[in-house]
Amino acid sequence: MDLITVENLYKSFGALEVLKDINLSIKKGSIFGLVGHSGAGKSTLLRTFNGLESINRGSVNIDGLEVSKLNVKDLRALRQRIGMIFQHFSLLQRKNVWENIVLPLQCANIKIDSKQIKNLLELVGLEDKAGYYPNALSGGQKQRVAIARALAMQPMLLLSDEATSALDPNITGAILELLKNINKELGVTIVLVTHEMEVVKTLCQEAAFMENGEVLKSGTIEDLFLSPDPKMREFLGENEILPQSGLNIRIYFPKNIAQNLIITQMARNLQMDFGIVWGTLESFNGVALGVLVINIQEDKKEEVCNYLNAQGATWEIIQGGQK
Ligand SMILES: Nc1ncnc2c1ncn2[C@@H]1O[C@H](COP(=O)(O)OP(=O)(O)O)[C@@H](O)[C@H]1O
Ligand SMILES: [Mg+2]
Repeated sequence: MDLITVENLYKSFGALEVLKDINLSIKKGSIFGLVGHSGAGKSTLLRTFNGLESINRGSVNIDGLEVSKLNVKDLRALRQRIGMIFQHFSLLQRKNVWENIVLPLQCANIKIDSKQIKNLLELVGLEDKAGYYPNALSGGQKQRVAIARALAMQPMLLLSDEATSALDPNITGAILELLKNINKELGVTIVLVTHEMEVVKTLCQEAAFMENGEVLKSGTIEDLFLSPDPKMREFLGENEILPQSGLNIRIYFPKNIAQNLIITQMARNLQMDFGIVWGTLESFNGVALGVLVINIQEDKKEEVCNYLNAQGATWEIIQGGQK
């Protein structure tokens, strides 16, 4: 079931159109990534989900509610069910950890249940830091406080805008683990904006790749990586320099195919030599997937293609020199 549905969404800032015909659906309970270069429109799109950004055309529907049609009171109620975290934590410096976390509850006039706050502190691993002030905490700890604060209202949805971009890589890993854990333990749907593919690969089941205000491709992580759009390939840094002679074939290996076997058996069965031009095996959300580019002689094309088809591999012929 979808928690978020975006249809034909357009958004401009003055004459600048920053979101163009966005269509997305995000499943309840999933972790969804919005990824792309800076300026692609990711943050703007994310902010339409809780009505922080108005829209010009189209529809943003959250849990059955049309965000742009809500009155002030209903919008406030929706926002209370959506937590948000940012790159720069935005903690109040003059309040301690506990006070920062209970802030959303105070603003909403909700009675504070100290057991719940203690549980939250424990969940984010700060049970001994309740009385600390933000300037006594590390970056990773500050983000943990911000996460606990975002969860204080027991939201159905957590929006994360570059939450790990200001952190060291080793701290990033721990924060991503925490988000994964929160999604699993609390069932909170998470939508995260990032310009780092690693983040999407570690955490998300599905993602959308954005550029210039458009979603160029969206789907499961496997789909996204196994048949990337040329622009996404560039984003991934896979600038393959391919041989100009012969035929280059890119082979995609889904999780249930043993790629080594296909390749070594192909060489043996077809009794031919071929060059391995480029290959990668990566882990996506714990699942290993591979892409391999081989170079064969033109006249072997039919034989090789038939062989790959028979093995159930996905492949495409790519031009020499193409990125
Ligand atoms: N409040 C604003 N007023 C005018 N232009 C904006 C505003 N917010 C964002 N933009 C522009 O919209 C585009 C998309 O920005 P943003 O959504 O922040 O991209 P991303 O998060 O992918 O880096 C950029 O060109 C940015 O300069
Ligand atoms: Mg942004």
